[in-house]
Amino acid sequence: MSKNKLLELYEEIEDLDEDATESAPKRLTQKRESKKQVMDAKVFVRAQEVSREFKFTYKAARFEEAWLLDSLAEIAQHQWISDVLRKVKGGKEASVYLCRSGVAVDAPLVAAKVYRPRSLRNLKNDQQYRVGRVDLGEDGNALVKSADVHAIAKRSSYGEGLRHQSWIAYEFRTLEILHEAGVDVPKPYAMEKNAILMGYVGSLERSAPALSSVSLELDEAKHLYDRTVHNIDLMLTHDRIHGDLSAYNILYWDGDITLIDFPQVVLPESNPASWNIFLRDVTRVCQYFSLQGVECDGRKLATELWTSHGHKTVKEIDPRYLDAEKPEDRKVWEKQK
Ligand SMILES: Nc1ncnc2c1ncn2[C@@H]1O[C@H](COP(=O)(O)OP(=O)(O)OP(=O)(O)O)[C@@H](O)[C@H]1O
Ligand SMILES: [Mg+2]
Repeated sequence: MSKNKLLELYEEIEDLDEDATESAPKRLTQKRESKKQVMDAKVFVRAQEVSREFKFTYKAARFEEAWLLDSLAEIAQHQWISDVLRKVKGGKEASVYLCRSGVAVDAPLVAAKVYRPRSLRNLKNDQQYRVGRVDLGEDGNALVKSADVHAIAKRSSYGEGLRHQSWIAYEFRTLEILHEAGVDVPKPYAMEKNAILMGYVGSLERSAPALSSVSLELDEAKHLYDRTVHNIDLMLTHDRIHGDLSAYNILYWDGDITLIDFPQVVLPESNPASWNIFLRDVTRVCQYFSLQGVECDGRKLATELWTSHGHKTVKEIDPRYLDAEKPEDRKVWEKQK
């Protein structure tokens, strides 16, 4: 079975599971059940096939196992991982697994983020973030073929696959750029069709908690606040806004922080909503640190950071649309000068 066929199969099973939660006539339920059994059998066969090549310690449910094996088989073949140890966290969009590294990795443990088949449908409204972003292909480069660009716009099933891929590629590419720039993010190792492999934060027994679940002493809170602001500033230097930043997407381990979860990253100059997205990120971060006793004003901080990188908080208006007779228009013009 080809990879695309499998993806469709997993998606169909997911759909059946979802439909089953809605009330439906008995006849339909039976039909659905028998269809599901046929598909489950196919997935089982597939799991048998792949598991001959790659076995892992983590005991997954059958559907999850086949999905995991398919998503990680190539990463294992390239010796990036040698085992999957446990699930760190299962989310709506993706699940993260703790893996033992293969010889190609310079650390003993790594984290694999494996996206769900229909992650895009559950997405944090991806449209808002897509504005001004070119789509990326499997290799992390911009998609240039006009057939591909059209397929994405038309939302054909082939196009949806590309969109899913582009979302993942943005997360990986962003980790590459930011890690290289010295931002506190996991080191990116590899990207496969459906998964990314990155540095793991935590120990064998315990994964790093999110900052949101940690109470800090004031001194440490001040120090981590400064560190977070430094990271946000450095990201702006590299033209990146996280887009979903909060204490939930900052991990805390051994007194250090690590920023995670980047598929929705926004480029300041390309997205007209970028200032508002940036303001929301900074405000959320400040909400957490205020609770820890650090004095911070989200709007003030966001404005300082934003303008120090040459961005404007008010959208520029073409002077041709301003009316010199109107005092409010003259004010806008004065401001923009
Ligand atoms: N590199 C890592 N090391 C350790 N744990 C990680 C790592 N990356 C992610 N996690 C864990 O997995 C969880 C989900 O990761 P992430 O936020 O990237 O995915 P998500 O699909 O957006 O999930 P959510 O919807 O919960 O935010 C994180 O909250 C964290 O607990
Ligand atoms: Mg997250």
